[in-house]
Amino acid sequence: MADDLTYEDTLAALAWQVELGADEAVLDHPVDRFDLPAPPPKPAPTVSPQVTKAAPVQHAAPELDAVAVARQLAEGANSLETLHAAMEGFEHCDLKRGARNFVFSDGHASARIMIVGEAPGRDEDLQGKPFVGRAGQLLDKMFVAIGLDRNVEGPDGLYITNMLPWRPPQNRDPKPAEIAMMRPFLDRHIALADPDILVLMGNHACAGLLGRRGITRMRGNWEEVLGRPAMPMFHPAYLLRNPVAKREAWSDLLSIKARLQ
Ligand code: URA
Repeated sequence: MADDLTYEDTLAALAWQVELGADEAVLDHPVDRFDLPAPPPKPAPTVSPQVTKAAPVQHAAPELDAVAVARQLAEGANSLETLHAAMEGFEHCDLKRGARNFVFSDGHASARIMIVGEAPGRDEDLQGKPFVGRAGQLLDKMFVAIGLDRNVEGPDGLYITNMLPWRPPQNRDPKPAEIAMMRPFLDRHIALADPDILVLMGNHACAGLLGRRGITRMRGNWEEVLGRPAMPMFHPAYLLRNPVAKREAWSDLLSIKARLQ
């Protein structure tokens, strides 16, 4: 079968795998997991008289409250630089171990608008910056159309971050526990950047900051997050898959522009 594949077929199959998130080789050869030898049978449990007589009481180690640790670190950060360092050094989120880079923010914190996305994807993980892949390029075009640019400092700029600073494996959805663990850092990030307006990009940003999903109903309606006006919008990755929704996105951009004025 593989011998029948053309160069183009092989390239398309490879692109499809990359799209699914299989973007690096972990072994030199593929493993056929349907053809592995059966694991040896588990030994039957034996009852040790010693253990049954006087089993010592095992006290489970107290579970570390990662959210409390995150809160303490976040509260101790008095600048974006110290927050960056505190987050980068935070060891309790397992996503950190699978990611290539820590992705904190891009643009300028002097901007009046702060965009909150979901989590880094493949390109963001490689470059250590949020929204630099195809969705990020669309996001840039959308905001340039209302006169805002991440490369510009001051009121015509943009400041961009994500709910999570590390890429979830295979771009899977963030887990509620991961969002809850990193939320104190995000709250502090917003307080320190001090934007006039927040833009919540997609369902995960809405779930994380508003505790609600349903972007189709929520988009276009101003909300309040941490005492600031917040606009839920369709995520640019969704707009790439559903270009007809760009009309609604344009209306939301105009609403943001009007609010800035
Ligand atoms: N999608 C996001 O939500 N954030 C990124 O940084 C990239 C893609």
